[in-house]
Amino acid sequence: MDTRLPIWRRRRLFFPQIVILIVVCYWRRNIDVILREPQHDIDSMHNFWQELKKPIIAIAPMAGITDSAFRFLCKEFGADVVYTEMTSIDALYYNSKKTLAMLEFQKKEKPIVLQLFGKRPELVAKAVEIATEAGFDGIDLNFGCPAPKVVRHEGGVMLLKKLNLCRELVQAVCEATKLPVSIKTRVSIGSGKEKKTALDFIEKIKDLPVAGLMLHGRTFEQGFSGDIDFDAIKSVKKKFKGIVIANGGINTPEDAKKMIDLTGADGVGLARGLYGRPWLARQVDDFLEKGKYVSPTLSQIKKTALRHAELNYKTKGDYGIVELRKHLCWYFRGFLESRK
Ligand SMILES: Cc1cc2nc3c(=O)[nH]c(=O)nc-3n(C[C@H](O)[C@H](O)[C@H](O)COP(=O)(O)O)c2cc1C
Repeated sequence: MDTRLPIWRRRRLFFPQIVILIVVCYWRRNIDVILREPQHDIDSMHNFWQELKKPIIAIAPMAGITDSAFRFLCKEFGADVVYTEMTSIDALYYNSKKTLAMLEFQKKEKPIVLQLFGKRPELVAKAVEIATEAGFDGIDLNFGCPAPKVVRHEGGVMLLKKLNLCRELVQAVCEATKLPVSIKTRVSIGSGKEKKTALDFIEKIKDLPVAGLMLHGRTFEQGFSGDIDFDAIKSVKKKFKGIVIANGGINTPEDAKKMIDLTGADGVGLARGLYGRPWLARQVDDFLEKGKYVSPTLSQIKKTALRHAELNYKTKGDYGIVELRKHLCWYFRGFLESRK
């Protein structure tokens, strides 16, 4: 071709290239749309939540507590579903070895939900991909943690103040996985005009395929003590289309029954009530089904503590035994001469 010709006269060379360019752009656009669409709707995914018998007895996520050994033990004592400790999206994104090690679990813990926390939607896809490959049954997002180190970075419960960002995060998880997605939050944060509630949150995400919600019936301001707002949980249960697990202040089987009766929730999330009592799930199940339950004898408690030690050692080696100390205090709290 004569390069001395002005550019508009070199039509024969440019025409095929322009056609290819248009086709590529169009294809890229479609691919983008496909990639950005949620990977599933609630009906088409494998939603283990819907397969669990109700009321569901869940082991709520607890950092420093619900490690693999503890979850395994709770599962042996009849828990229906267990949550991991909260796991940083950023740390997974940057392949933190310590965080990747936290993803290990045993098959008997299933169904198991990985709880993620973070506030950067752009990092979510990779973290979710890692989680999906690790074999979890569901992915949960934390919108309830009031821990100072999380709150300082405007994560956890502080996200409730920015409902658009909450939505972006939930959407990013839904788009990145076929696993059922759930969220965990508190009844509210703030007061007056600034107040944001769990109801505002579910309204914001009502078109997204969110399969479950664990609701802690306390406000951010209450922290970890004070009365549970049963009415707030009940209103959320009425509005939310997925499974609702009610959480907060469940220390006995009677507390669990009260929670279900007053809120109509699909299940309960056990947390600090499990301290030194991993058998609480079995007691709750027995009480809800038969109206009675038994308490373990001292020798059964010793046996359980030894089992816990064995599992901790198996999963964490010597350090697992160091970590066991807090659990031992809880197991034998209240027994004569337990300090020895
Ligand atoms: C030590 C500890 C760690 C916790 N870690 C988490 C966590 O990682 N993710 C989360 O969503 N909630 C976490 N929570 C909150 C619990 O899941 C639960 O919502 C809260 O303790 C209220 O339930 P309870 O009154 O029965 O203990 C934690 C609570 C405690 C006490």
